[in-house]
Amino acid sequence: MKTELLTPNEISRAAEIIKSGGLVGIPTETVYGLGANGLDPVAVRSIFQAKGRPQDNPLILHIPDPSWLERCCEDIPEAAWRLAERFWPGPLTMILKCRRRTPEELEALKKGPICSCTHTGPRIIPDVVTAGLDTVGMRCPAHDLCRAVIQAAGVPVAAPSGNTSGRPSPTSVGDMLEDMDGKIDAILDGGDCQVGVESTIIDVTAVPPRLLRPGGIPLEELRDVLGKVELDPAILRPMGEGEQPRAPGMKYRHYAPKAPVIVVKGSPARSAAYILEHLSPTYWDGVICFDEFADWYPGHPVERLGGALDHWENARRLFHALRAMDEAGVKRIWAQSPDTAGLGLAVVNRLDKAAGFHIVEV
Ligand code: TXA
Ligand code: MG
Repeated sequence: MKTELLTPNEISRAAEIIKSGGLVGIPTETVYGLGANGLDPVAVRSIFQAKGRPQDNPLILHIPDPSWLERCCEDIPEAAWRLAERFWPGPLTMILKCRRRTPEELEALKKGPICSCTHTGPRIIPDVVTAGLDTVGMRCPAHDLCRAVIQAAGVPVAAPSGNTSGRPSPTSVGDMLEDMDGKIDAILDGGDCQVGVESTIIDVTAVPPRLLRPGGIPLEELRDVLGKVELDPAILRPMGEGEQPRAPGMKYRHYAPKAPVIVVKGSPARSAAYILEHLSPTYWDGVICFDEFADWYPGHPVERLGGALDHWENARRLFHALRAMDEAGVKRIWAQSPDTAGLGLAVVNRLDKAAGFHIVEV
């Protein structure tokens, strides 16, 4: 398959491909997504194929404005509207109850399919999107091109991150091409992603609401709006035998470059010194570090994460740094880790997962 590279002027072409059941790489403010018509089970199935994604890992739906929530969800709690008001469009995904079809809708279905992609399940969203759960993740992204495409397509767009399953998420068109060239119909060029880590996922069907994945909206800001928010244990530690994280995707090894990663935690100066002491002179070690320490490791490939206190910049650069280590062909990666304040929690979570929780505390 030839993958078309679309310019920002080609929104209607992107929408047309989605409407006709194809796959389009779409820019969002967090990472690039791999989008398809979220109401078309056949199109959605092809997302799993292109990514090599396990079928039990549900997708989230992207909508152009909060008013679409009621098309897809029911029993929407008041907390969800407050979050939408404050953070949408923006890097927040809410887990909500999937809308069941009304008796009239079920009756209409009996008269035959409305279009070629109509599925006949009791819920409005096909099971292949939700992996059969009765909840669905909803997100309204803060990227004008992305929302314009969804609006033009006229359907909620199912989109996981556009990486091959297990790899770091794509934050540029180049990353998208690296993983998906030849496997999908098109990629819409929307420039580099400004947030750099995926959206924050919060389950608002739980009382109190539960953070399932830290991301572009900091936990502190959610607590500002909601008061109490619980943390799913899968955020900070590996799941044990028989334990299930609430976001199915959190159980998989993730965000991982080809080389093994060792995360070093502690004050920036100490972790930088620890890495210097343990770098092998003969082994092809790479280092991901804060800008302040970038010239400490001559002779080794180094990727900068921005300043040690600039967690926004750390987030923006993280996935690129992991991919760049692959390009350099290093045998092992040492990475400094920020603290968990603000966007730091998302960066720490992605690094821990990239390292399979191989962590050194200094
Ligand atoms: O920023 C983002 O969220 C990006 C961009 C493209 O929008 N998308 C993204 O999708 O990161 P994905 O599929 O890579 O991650 C979505 C996560 C997965 O871990 C999945 O298990 C979880 O959301 N998820 C989806 N539906 C869920 C549900 N009903 N309940 C709990 N977790 C769910
Ligand atoms: Mg992903």
